[in-house]
Amino acid sequence: MLKFRKSKHKILVTSALPYANGPIHLGHLVEYIQTDIFVRFLRLIGEDVIYICADDAHGAPIEIKAAELKIKPEQLIADVYKEHLQDFKDFLISFDNYYTTNSEENRQYSDLIFTRLKEKNLIYTKDIEVTYCEYCKRTLPDRYVKGKCPKCNANDQYGDVCENCNAAYKTIDLIEPYCAICKNKPVRKTSTHYFFKLSKFAKKLGNWLNKNKNLQPEIKNFALNWIKNGLEDWNISRDGPYFGFKIPGEEDKYYYVWLDAPIGYIASTENYCRKHELKTEDYWNSKNSKIIHFIGKDIVYFHFLFWPAVLLGSGFNLPDDIVVHGFLTVNGEKMSKSRGTFYTAKEFLQSYNAEYLRFYYASMLGKRLADIDLSFEDLGKKVNNELAANLGNFCYRVLNFLNKNFDGEIRDIDNNKRLIGDIGKLAKDIEKNYHYLNFNEAVKGILHMSSLGNKYFQENEPWKLIGENREKTHRILGLCANIIKDLGILIQPILPDFASKLQHQLNLKGLKWQDINSKLKNHKIGKEDILIRKIEEKQAKEFPLNLKVARIIDARSHPNADKLYVVDIDLGMEKRQLVAGLKGHYTIDELKNKKIIVITNLKHAKLRGIESQGMLLAGDDETDVGVLTVSDSNPGDKAYFEGYENSSKEISFDEFLKINMKIEHGVVYFEGKELRTGKGIVRVEKVKDGAKVR
Ligand code: MSP
Ligand code: ZN
Repeated sequence: MLKFRKSKHKILVTSALPYANGPIHLGHLVEYIQTDIFVRFLRLIGEDVIYICADDAHGAPIEIKAAELKIKPEQLIADVYKEHLQDFKDFLISFDNYYTTNSEENRQYSDLIFTRLKEKNLIYTKDIEVTYCEYCKRTLPDRYVKGKCPKCNANDQYGDVCENCNAAYKTIDLIEPYCAICKNKPVRKTSTHYFFKLSKFAKKLGNWLNKNKNLQPEIKNFALNWIKNGLEDWNISRDGPYFGFKIPGEEDKYYYVWLDAPIGYIASTENYCRKHELKTEDYWNSKNSKIIHFIGKDIVYFHFLFWPAVLLGSGFNLPDDIVVHGFLTVNGEKMSKSRGTFYTAKEFLQSYNAEYLRFYYASMLGKRLADIDLSFEDLGKKVNNELAANLGNFCYRVLNFLNKNFDGEIRDIDNNKRLIGDIGKLAKDIEKNYHYLNFNEAVKGILHMSSLGNKYFQENEPWKLIGENREKTHRILGLCANIIKDLGILIQPILPDFASKLQHQLNLKGLKWQDINSKLKNHKIGKEDILIRKIEEKQAKEFPLNLKVARIIDARSHPNADKLYVVDIDLGMEKRQLVAGLKGHYTIDELKNKKIIVITNLKHAKLRGIESQGMLLAGDDETDVGVLTVSDSNPGDKAYFEGYENSSKEISFDEFLKINMKIEHGVVYFEGKELRTGKGIVRVEKVKDGAKVR
C-alpha cells in the first residue's frame, strides 16, 4: 500500500504516451481522466507531485502516414501535437509537462541508455529474416503485411495474429502475403538487428514483481507467468525508412519506437526540470521518489518486462506502481467506426460537456483490470439524476435559501452531532478511496454525503421553520453550507470546473483537503447559480450521411475504365482512396489540392477492380459534372445541414440514392437547408440549377 500523505517523497506520475498519428478518442480518455483525478487528489492533499506525458511521435505508422499525405513526418507530428494539447485542455487534463518523444532530450537519454546497455554487454547483433517490399522499398512491419492465416486460411489477416482464429505466427508464415500499402507480394531479406538481452533479467524482474506490493495481483501473476515460460531477447532496432532516432554508428538503422517511447517519460521529466530548476535524478535516481505509471491493458508486456529491464540495466529507478486499466467499450462492444460508436474527444464535445465524461468515468473506475462500458443512456441518467438532481440541486437550494433569507450570511452551525459525525466519516472514506484509486466508491461517498445534506434540509423544512425559529433555521443552513464546502473540496479531483464554480459561489477559493476539517462561520457567500445543466433530449435530427471536407492529394487514370479517376484524399490525418467519374470534366492538375466534400460512411466498394473508400460529391446536370468545394475549411472538417446531425453508421449506395439533395444557385439543399461547414457555405462548380447530387 502506498502511503502518500505527508510523505517526504517526490512523486512522478505518468500516463502512457499517445501515438502521434491520430486523434485522442474516448478510449484514451479513460486513462488520462483516471490519471488526472489521481494527480489532482495528490496535489490537494499537499503532495509534491508532477504529472508528465508526451506524444509518442516515432515509428513506422507515422512515417508511412506522412508519406501517404505527402507531408514530412515532422509536419504530421506537429499538427497532431497541437490537436492533442487542445483535446487535453478541453478535458481538463492537468499535465505539468506535455512533451514529444521526438526531442533532443529524448535522443540524449536514448543514446545514453543504449550505450550503457551495450557497455554492459546487454546488447548484441544478429541476422534475422525480414519481410521487404521491393515496390515500396521498405521493410514491412507485421501490421503492414497481410495474407491468409496459416492456421485457418482466413483472408486478409495481419502478419502477427489472426483476428479470426487468434493464432499467433510469424509474418513469413502467412499464405499469399501481400504488402498492405501497395498490395504487391513482398520478398524475404536478411538484415542485421540489435537485440537486448531480456532473458538475462528473468530473476531480477521476478524479484521486483514479487516484492512490489502495489501492483494489481492479476497482472503481477500474468507477468510472473511470462517469465516462467521463458523470456526471449528483444529486437530493439528497425531498418529505414523509419521515423525515429538513428542508432549511433549506423547509416540506416533506428531505435525501435518501443525502446525510445518509455524513455520519453524520463526525457519529458528532464524538459520539465530544466524549466523549473529541478533535477531529473531526484525523480529517476533517488530513494526519495516514487514513480507511478498509468497504462492500458494492451501494453502490459512493455511496461512490466521490457521497460523495467531497460531501467535495471541502465541504472534508473524502477516504478513503484503501474496502474493498469481495462478497455473502453461502447454499449458493451468494442468501439467501432462501422457501428458509429467510435467517438473522438472533439466529437464528444459537440454534444456534451467534458465534465460529464469525467464524472461518468470516475463513477465506473476502480483499481481493476475490467473493461468499462459507456452507454449514452447511462451517461444521461448519471448526469441528470446524480450530478444535477442530487449534488447540483442541494448546493443550489441551500445557497439560494441563504441568499434570500439571510442576506448570504453564515453565522453558526447547528450542532447535530450525528450528521456531523457521519459527514466526517464519509470524508475519510472518500479520501481513502481516492488513495486506492477506487474512484467509483469515492463518487458513491460524495453522492451519499449530498443525499444526507438534502435529507437534512428537507426534513427540517426551513421554509416553515423560519417563521417559528429564525435562529435555529440559520444554524441549520450553516451546517448545510459547511457540507457544501466539504463537497466542493471532495469533488474537485473529478470535477475541477464544477468545484471552482461552487467555491466561487461560496465566496471562497483554492480550498485544500485540510479545509475539510475547518468550520465555515461568520462568512458571507456569493451569488448562487446553476452548477450543472441537465442533458436535454437530442434536438437535432439524424442525417444518414457523414460528410467531411477532404483535400485531393493526387489523382490518376483508372487502369480499367475510360471515365474514372483514382483519387487520393487527405481527410485530416487520414488518407483514403476514391474512385470518381470526373475524367473528361477535370484534368488531374485541376483536381490537385482542391478541397471537396466526401461521404465517409459509405460502404467501401470495388469499382472495376479498384477499391473506393467512400465517395466524393459532385453536381451532374447531364452535360457537366462539377465537384462540391470549399475554400476556407480544413481537411477533416465536418460538412452539414443546419439542424441535422451527421450519422457515422455505415450506409449502402442504394440508401444513398434515396436521399434527396438539390442544387440551386450553386448551393446544395436538403429539406430547405444549405450544405455548409463551420467556416461557410459549400459551393458547386459548373452545373446548372436542378442538377443532381451524386
Ligand atoms: N504509444 C503507446 C504507449 C507508449 S507509452 C511509453 C500507445 N499509444 S496509444 O495511443 O495506442 O494508447 C495510449 C494509451 O491509451 C494506452 O495506455 C492505451 O492502453 C490507452 N487506450 C487506447 N485505446 C483505449 C481504449 N479503447 N480503452 C482504454 N484505453 C485505451 O499505446
Ligand atoms: Zn509495398
